[in-house]
Amino acid sequence: MKKQLITALFISIVSTSASAGSAFSDAKDSVTYRQASFQLIRHNMADIADMLKGEVSYDAERVTKRATALATLTSLPWEAFTVPGAEQGGGDAKAAIWQNLDDFNSRGAKLVSDAATLKAAADAGDQAEIRKAFGNFARNCKACHEQYKE
Ligand code: HEC
Repeated sequence: MKKQLITALFISIVSTSASAGSAFSDAKDSVTYRQASFQLIRHNMADIADMLKGEVSYDAERVTKRATALATLTSLPWEAFTVPGAEQGGGDAKAAIWQNLDDFNSRGAKLVSDAATLKAAADAGDQAEIRKAFGNFARNCKACHEQYKE
């Protein structure tokens, strides 16, 4: 009986979080989510940048850990721009995003694929490749912010 109740609870929790948009209680919540994702991206990226600049000593395992995190983190923000009401939640997102959603989303997808390339370079442990992949990855940030962020 107890086990059945727990199973039923579990199923209801899982199905709630799996239904479209319900990860966010309202538009403001979706803004919190995308901003939090960007902050985590920033932290993980900054640590790799510091190692590549020699500001902290280079640690190949740490680069791999950061690049692996980035490969997942970069996939997170985008759904929080397309839930109903996402454009009315405040934050620093420009209205231009929703007038050019295909362009915006393809820039998001490019960030994800550049993060995957960076992770592959980190896994292979080739510093020259990591440097190149990191440069390509980092270019996406400013390019998108210039157009779509206040
Ligand atoms: C496809 C567009 C796009 C790309 C690519 C992008 N960003 Fe952003 N970023 C945004 C938008 C839009 C916002 C504003 C979000 C909001 O306030 O709702 C933002 C906000 C941020 C913020 C502020 C979050 C907060 O707490 O308010 C940080 C930090 C950030 N981005 C870092 C990065 C970094 C680092 C990269 C590159 C690795 C990056 N972004 C790539 C669009 C992008």
